[in-house]
Amino acid sequence: MTYCVAVIPGDGIGPEVLAEGVKMLEAVAALDGSFQFEFTHFPWGCEYYLREGRMMPEDGLDTLRGFDAIFLGAVGYPGVPDHISLWDLLLVIRKEFDQYINLRPVKLLKGAPCPLAGVSREEIDMLFVRENSEGEYAGSGSWLYKGQPNEVVIQNGVFSRKGCERVIRYAYELARKEKKTLTSISKGNALNYSMVFWDQIFAEVGREYPDVTTYSYLVDAASMFMVKDPGRFQIVVTSNLFGDILTDLGAAIAGGMGLAAGANLNPEGKYPSMFEPIHGSAPDIAGQGKANPLATLWSAAQMLEHFGYPHWSDRIIDTIEQLLVEGKTLTPDLGGTATTQEVGTRAVQMMQERFSQK
Ligand code: NAD
Ligand code: IPM
Ligand code: MN
Repeated sequence: MTYCVAVIPGDGIGPEVLAEGVKMLEAVAALDGSFQFEFTHFPWGCEYYLREGRMMPEDGLDTLRGFDAIFLGAVGYPGVPDHISLWDLLLVIRKEFDQYINLRPVKLLKGAPCPLAGVSREEIDMLFVRENSEGEYAGSGSWLYKGQPNEVVIQNGVFSRKGCERVIRYAYELARKEKKTLTSISKGNALNYSMVFWDQIFAEVGREYPDVTTYSYLVDAASMFMVKDPGRFQIVVTSNLFGDILTDLGAAIAGGMGLAAGANLNPEGKYPSMFEPIHGSAPDIAGQGKANPLATLWSAAQMLEHFGYPHWSDRIIDTIEQLLVEGKTLTPDLGGTATTQEVGTRAVQMMQERFSQK
């Protein structure tokens, strides 16, 4: 079995961390022996934009369509406006390939630092199901009377019944399967159309899942509880923007941006799904070998789970944990002095030590 994976390293630390992710996937394929990867690299991103005047070729999406998955580093760099670089590469892929589920684990691994006082490790074990195709990111609006005193901008949130139902249903299914509680995070008190609708659909769909225990929080209170009492949350479902913000908060309480992984899924498999760390291109540390590749390795684990190898996914996450516990090969964000490459190499070595067929 060969999996064809499109590799888009992107900008800043993207290429640095993604190289380690590819290294890990190759190592896993070699350890397993029953499947392999064929990686095709696409040099799309801000440098490409400065040369070609676009973030990817005109037929970029058609090219990607044929792959089994996309592995992406990060997009965005000073010199290209963020709304252009992100909309014309990352966001267009999520939308056009209908990757409407964004799965983001917020789990504090053994050995990972946590800034919260009085919180035990076991209390930080959540899985965010972020709506990833519409909502506040629908891209609907207008900019009127540009540059004039009566200038007006409108940014619409778009919440369709189909869009809300499918992500909420996905989260209920997950909660049922994993026997976990499900929490919806919204803001119906102020967003009197979109979030009232969201809450209504959460309740409606919930009638089909009487076995799932649910909670509903307003996003402001939810942010507070994530810091004060994170043990309340198991599976969490929320809108595009709230999911974006809360998962950076989640990263902060679960070891930092260098440990936060994400999967953009098209559950029907009609289009390729995309795997990427949730952090950005980190221009402040780019090109210095300081970027932590562990989030990317975790995203690689999510890809393996998606392809039907949950045991390899678990083994990678377990190895990340062992590496953290060992504490000898860590990047500066985790208090170490190792380079991105050294961390990736050590992780692969640990996988080989632990899981090669004797
Ligand atoms: P960022 O996530 O790039 O960086 C925030 C902070 O976290 C920085 O101090 C950075 O050094 C640190 N950090 C991030 N990843 C790290 C890692 N792997 N190891 C160690 N430290 C890490 O967020 P930002 O600075 O707000 O954004 C920078 C650029 O990235 C912008 O252009 C933004 O639009 C873009 N961005 C892209 C994505 C994506 O491609 N998925 C996600 C977020 C931001
Ligand atoms: C993320 C990023 C993106 C998002 C940006 C870069 C458009 O912050 O993946 O978390 O908001 O979804
Ligand atoms: Mn984000």
